[in-house]
Order: sequence, then C-alpha cells, then structure tokens
Amino acid sequence: MVFESQHPLVKHKLTLLRDKNTNPKKFRELVREITLLLTYEATADLGVTQVSVETPMGTAVGHELADTIGLIPVLRAGLGMVNGIWEMMPGAEVWHIGLYRDERTLKPVSYYNKLPTAPTVQVCLVLDPMLATGGSAVATIDILKNWGATRIKFVGLLAAPEGIATLQEAHPDVPIHIAKIDERLNDVGFIVPGLGDAGDRQFGTG
Ligand code: PRP
Repeated sequence: MVFESQHPLVKHKLTLLRDKNTNPKKFRELVREITLLLTYEATADLGVTQVSVETPMGTAVGHELADTIGLIPVLRAGLGMVNGIWEMMPGAEVWHIGLYRDERTLKPVSYYNKLPTAPTVQVCLVLDPMLATGGSAVATIDILKNWGATRIKFVGLLAAPEGIATLQEAHPDVPIHIAKIDERLNDVGFIVPGLGDAGDRQFGTG
C-alpha cells in the first residue's frame, strides 16, 4: 500500500523544502514539520487499550497506546525526521541504522547497526527522506525483519516510482507513507525534480 499525502499543509511545506534557496535551518524545520504530518497519517491504525481517567468532574473513558513504537532513522538523512515524532511520542525507542549509497553502484553499504538481539518494539517506523532506487529501504527492512520485527512502516518525504516498485516487490507487507511521488530517477540515481541531497541540505555539507 502506498499512501501519498493529499494534505494541503504537506503540499505547501514540500514546495518550500524543494526550493534551492531554502537554507539548512529552514530545511531542517520543514523536514521536522512534514514528518509530523506524515506520521499523523501513518499512525492512524495504532492499537489503544481502554482506560478510565479521573477528571475534576468525574470519571471519563480514555485510551492509552497499546503498541510500543520504534523509530528507525536511516543515517544520515533520516536523523532529522526523529525529533518531531519523538516530542509527540516520547515513549518511542530510537534505533539507528547507518547506510550510505555507493555513488558508483548505487547499492547501499551498511556501516552501523546496534539493534539488540531481540526486538523491543511492536511497530517500527523506518524514517528516510528519500526513496530513490529503494535499495536503502529494502536493506533496512531486511535488517529489521531478520531482527524479528513484524509490523513495519516506511515514512519518507520524496520517492521515485522506481523506489516504490522495488520496495513493494521486496516487502509488500510494508505500507509506504510519502509526501510525494516524483517523476523519475536521473542517471546518477537522484530523484527528479526532487530536492537535491536531503543529507547535505540538512547538515549544510552540500
Ligand atoms: C540517501 C538517502 C537514502 C538513500 C536513498 O542517502 O538519504 O538513505 O540515499 O537512495 P536509494 O533509495 O537509492 O537507496 P545517502 O547515501 O546520500 O547518505 P546520507 O543520508 O548519509 O547523506
């Protein structure tokens, strides 16, 4: 399942994010804000248990989250997607996975993984702004499934149709929540029209 956001705020903020004149500070703010909006949509099916709560006026029926959530940012660019969600869900656990894409082969290279031996969370949100060839997302989800994770969702900002197809073929059970599916990949594996390099634009390293 692919969920491309139709929310007007997402469309507005994504346009600012794409703009080549947007500076790193503003870029980071936008990544945080768009991620929050996408996560609102991506978490709509989380489980809750019914609890009662005492108000100043009496007893009300309330709910608390039943699922434990893991946020899995793919380094580096996924890091900027963590903090906004974490403010909203402070009990979430954050597990980092480090991958970079070899510029020549476009294949993901793993350089960091400190997951514990058994999964500690029930729902994993994989966070990576860019779904280009899809190689990084597939590799990350392979790692999570080998870890024992069963409910995994991918949250990203921009995707190429090629990346969507690759991820869906490898992991058809993983819903993809994305702000926008762009036209295509260019011959060096960048999403077009895209927004450039999401890691460099956040960290000022471009
Ligand atoms: C970018 C991006 C994704 C990956 C997407 O990372 O953040 O992780 O490429 O490409 P794919 O779908 O073709 O695998 P990059 O290698 O630039 O590393 P960085 O985040 O550390 O800058």
